[in-house]
Amino acid sequence: MDRLLPCTIVLLLFINTVKTDGCHKRKFKEDSFVCVCNELECDSFEPVTNPPKGLIYSYVSDRDEHRFHKDTLDPKTLVNTVTADSIKLSINVNETYQQIIGFGGAFTDAAGINIKSLPDKLVLDLTRDYFGKDGLEYNMGRVPIGGSDFSTRPYTYQDDYQDLNWTHFALAEEDLEYKIPYIKLANDFSGGLKLFGSMWSPPAWMKYQQRINGTGILIGDPGEVYYKAMANYIVKFLDEYKKHGLEFWGLTTMNEPGAGFNPYYPFNCLGLSPEQMMFWIYKDLGPNLEAAGYGKDKLKLMILDDNVSLLFRYAARVLNFPIASKYVSGIAVHWYENAQFGFDQFDITHQFYPDYFIL
Ligand SMILES: *[C@@H]1O[C@H](CO)[C@@H](O)[C@H](O)[C@H]1NC(C)=O
Ligand SMILES: *[C@@H]1O[C@H](CO)[C@@H](O)[C@H](O)[C@H]1NC(C)=O
Ligand SMILES: *[C@@H]1O[C@H](CO)[C@@H](O)[C@H](O)[C@H]1NC(C)=O
Ligand SMILES: *[C@@H]1O[C@H](CO)[C@@H](O)[C@H](O)[C@H]1NC(C)=O
Repeated sequence: MDRLLPCTIVLLLFINTVKTDGCHKRKFKEDSFVCVCNELECDSFEPVTNPPKGLIYSYVSDRDEHRFHKDTLDPKTLVNTVTADSIKLSINVNETYQQIIGFGGAFTDAAGINIKSLPDKLVLDLTRDYFGKDGLEYNMGRVPIGGSDFSTRPYTYQDDYQDLNWTHFALAEEDLEYKIPYIKLANDFSGGLKLFGSMWSPPAWMKYQQRINGTGILIGDPGEVYYKAMANYIVKFLDEYKKHGLEFWGLTTMNEPGAGFNPYYPFNCLGLSPEQMMFWIYKDLGPNLEAAGYGKDKLKLMILDDNVSLLFRYAARVLNFPIASKYVSGIAVHWYENAQFGFDQFDITHQFYPDYFIL
C-alpha cells in the first residue's frame, strides 16, 4: 500500500487535467481547453526553425487534442490523393502584401498586480511563455501613461499640483511596482520589445469639467498653454521611463479620443476631435516630441487609437494636412465594431493613406 501512495498524490494533483504534448489540459466552460501551468510543470514551445531540406514541419492546434503538436513529414512518403511530384508551389515574389510589425499585449496595472501575486517561478514561466523564444515570441507591449481602466484607482502623474511646468511630475507606485519590473523582464526574454505609450487622461485640473472621466475637454485650444503642457507631460513620461532604461518604439496620441465626448464614460478619458488632434499634433505634440529627441526617426507617432467606426474620419482629418501628417507614422485601431463597419474600412484607409501603417 505505501508504494502506491505517491501515485495517488500525483493523480489528485492533476485530476482535472489530461496531459498531452506537455500540456496539462483543463476545460473551463468554453468548448476548447487550456494548458495549465503550475510550479511543478509547464508546457513550452520549441522555437520554429527551418526543417531539413526536403522535409516539412507541421504544427497542429485544435479544439480537443493538440496545442502546437509538431510532426515532421516527408512529402515523398505522403500518400494521399496527391503524390510528391504533383505538389507544385508557386510564389509570386513580385506581389507583396502587408508587413507584420508584431504581436503583443499591454503592461497594465491589472496585469502587473496579477503577475506580482504569482510565485517567482511562475512569474518567469508566464513571461517566458508570452515573450520567450520557446513561447509565443510577443515582441510588442503597450504601456498606459498613468492610470487606465485597468487600474485600481484613477490617477495621473501630477494630480495635486496645478503647475503646467510639471515641477511635481512623478511616476506612480504602479509604474515602479507593476509595470517597469515586468516590462524589463519581458524585454530580457524577448531580446527587445517594441513598446508604445498611450495616455488615457491628463490631470483632471487641465479640463473644463475638472474630472478624469465622463465628458472632458482640455482648457483652451491647441497651440495654447494647456495643449502645450499636455505634449510636455507625454515627453516627461518618456524621459522618466528612459531613466529606468526603457526606450519607446511608439506612442499614440491618446487612448480613445472619442470617449471623452461621452457623458457616461466611466473611466479616465479625454475628448479630442479629429480637428483638435490635427492641430495639437501640428502646433504642440509634433514639435515638442522632435525638440525632446523623440522625432519621427526615433518614435512612431500613431493617431486615432480608437475603434473602427472612427478610423477613416480621423485619418482623413489628420493625414490630409502635411503640417501635421509629417509627424505621424501610423494609425492605431481598436478591434471593436468590425461587424458593423467592416474590414473594408481598413482597405479604404490604406488605399487613401498607403504611407501610414495600421496597427
Ligand atoms: C517579377 O518581376 C520580374 C522583374 O520585373 C519579372 O522578370 C518576372 O517575370 C516577374 N515574375 C512574375 C511571376 O510576375
Ligand atoms: C513655467 O515656465 C515658464 C517658461 O519657462 C515660466 O515663465 C513660468 O514662470 C514657469 N511657471 C512656474 C509656475 O514655474
Ligand atoms: C466606438 O466609438 C464610438 C464613437 O466614440 C462610440 O460611440 C462607440 O461606443 C464606440 N464603441 C465601442 C465598442 O467602444
Ligand atoms: C467617474 O468616476 C467616479 C469615481 O469613480 C464615479 O463616482 C462616477 O460615477 C464616474 N462618472 C461616470 C460618468 O461614470
